[in-house]
Amino acid sequence: MIELRNIEKSFDDKSVIADVSAVMKPGQCNLIIGASGSGKTVLMKCMVGLFEPDKGHVLYDGQDFTAMNNDEKTEIRKEIGMLFQGSALFDSLTVEQNIMFPLNMFTKWPIKKKLDRVNEVLARVNLVDTNKKYPGELSGGMKKRVGIARAIVLNPKYLFCDEPNSGLDPQTSLVIDHLIKEITLEYNIITVVNTHDMNSVMEIGNYILYMYKGKKEWEGNNREIIFSKNQRLNDFIFASEFLKDAKDMRMLEEKGKIANERDMDELLDKDSPTLIPPADTE
Ligand SMILES: Nc1ncnc2c1ncn2[C@@H]1O[C@H](COP(=O)(O)OP(=O)(O)OP(=O)(O)O)[C@@H](O)[C@H]1O
Ligand SMILES: [Mg+2]
Repeated sequence: MIELRNIEKSFDDKSVIADVSAVMKPGQCNLIIGASGSGKTVLMKCMVGLFEPDKGHVLYDGQDFTAMNNDEKTEIRKEIGMLFQGSALFDSLTVEQNIMFPLNMFTKWPIKKKLDRVNEVLARVNLVDTNKKYPGELSGGMKKRVGIARAIVLNPKYLFCDEPNSGLDPQTSLVIDHLIKEITLEYNIITVVNTHDMNSVMEIGNYILYMYKGKKEWEGNNREIIFSKNQRLNDFIFASEFLKDAKDMRMLEEKGKIANERDMDELLDKDSPTLIPPADTE
């Protein structure tokens, strides 16, 4: 479990994160959503130790990361994989060298073992035989997958992804979302994803933290978000194409078309809900 307790962060007296608390669990995709500048990246950086919070605590499985000395923090960092915004691959290194980078930093494994592990994670992200390619030769989606392969190469307990879908088309975004979700379930890790992408919210949002101007405005899951009455959240999510469907669903709810839990579950289970209410429900 990752716990955030009353995190605060300011830059030059400008408050950027104010009193944010959250609990994130294993086997779940935990999403931090919010408009540009709402503090998603700063919060994630506070979580992984790239920024020091001014106040509050970040706990990894009950251990207070914020209070640790550098050696203790390094031990936790070994268990953290991170996919940075824009993938952040080293352009002068091959795919294989990029993925091997954390192994070189944190292990003393012989080269054969490192190569085996690189090939294992490359297979996991469906990029077999791209070892000798350079990032410049890859598509945006492939780069993200290399970034994910690098993030999971040390078998992390915690996976952080900052805007994994930025710059990708909707279908490729879905491939990345599914990969992140599969990896989360397969390894039972705690995944934290910063995103603007409302498709991701609905696809993988087991826990959603909505940030508004540095504060936690709303939290819940991808089922609850459809029915939230929070005006700021609704203004944010209904700005996207996908959530027009969700809005229809809300209207159904308001009209009393969703009579009970069972009906709602049926609607939510459909692959492409038409959201046309049954004629005999009134
Ligand atoms: N190193 C820094 N020094 C000063 N201010 C910063 C720094 N990093 C971020 N900020 C400020 O903190 C605020 C939140 O930025 P942050 O990058 O967390 O937003 P975000 O929600 O991730 O936005 P985006 O969706 O565009 O990535 C912004 O006002 C930004 O200018
Ligand atoms: Mg950001």
